[in-house]
Amino acid sequence: MSFRGTASYATAGAVPPLVASAVSDAVELGFDLCVRPEIGRLLAVLAGGLGPDAIVGEAGTGTGAGLGWMVSAARPDVQFVTYELDADRAASAQRRFADYPNVTVVAGDAAGLFDHAPFDLLVLDGGPFGGKKPGEQPIDPVPLLKAGATITIDDMTPTKQWPPHFEGQVDEPRVHWVEHSSLVATEVDVAPDLSVIVGRCWPSSD
Ligand SMILES: C[S@@+](CC[C@H](N)C(=O)[O-])C[C@H]1O[C@@H](n2cnc3c(N)ncnc32)[C@H](O)[C@@H]1O
Repeated sequence: MSFRGTASYATAGAVPPLVASAVSDAVELGFDLCVRPEIGRLLAVLAGGLGPDAIVGEAGTGTGAGLGWMVSAARPDVQFVTYELDADRAASAQRRFADYPNVTVVAGDAAGLFDHAPFDLLVLDGGPFGGKKPGEQPIDPVPLLKAGATITIDDMTPTKQWPPHFEGQVDEPRVHWVEHSSLVATEVDVAPDLSVIVGRCWPSSD
């Protein structure tokens, strides 16, 4: 979940026009879970550092706020592929990015990302890949990532405890990501109530 994401733009100051437009559609659709601006800015920093013809994957487009942060910061030749299960949100993002030949918004399950892998940057912000909801298993990210690629798993609650706990239990998905043998990963607090796991993929040779 995205911690009052859409509403938080009311006090976020200036944001890129693509982001403002995505948030406006989210309000119209009653979609509360736009990426928070603090994470959007981090995504912009990561996407803005990508080299020519890099490819970015995103699970859970929403109406395209995070996508707007990234596309606004990235080189125009960076490719984006993003999946959104909800038809209305996907249609909103498709309209917004219709004039961006480097952006593909797919209305469908994020499992389709495997068809476009490996990525230079992978943003997990929807669907079961992050393993954050009860009954979901976090994926092994290695087949989805190039060597040296970056992955983010959004919307954690900051904790200073190790192993991390969430709602009184060891937070196994968070342990999975931070201690994954093929990632160098850490949790970055972007606000007092919000953190993101950021990892870099270095697949082990064994
Ligand atoms: C937290 S919101 C995403 C926010 C968005 N990334 C942004 O930048 O504003 C999570 C989204 O994931 C979508 N979703 C859930 N399961 C999915 C799946 N299996 N495949 C693709 N999208 C999914 C939901 O419909 C929802 O719009």
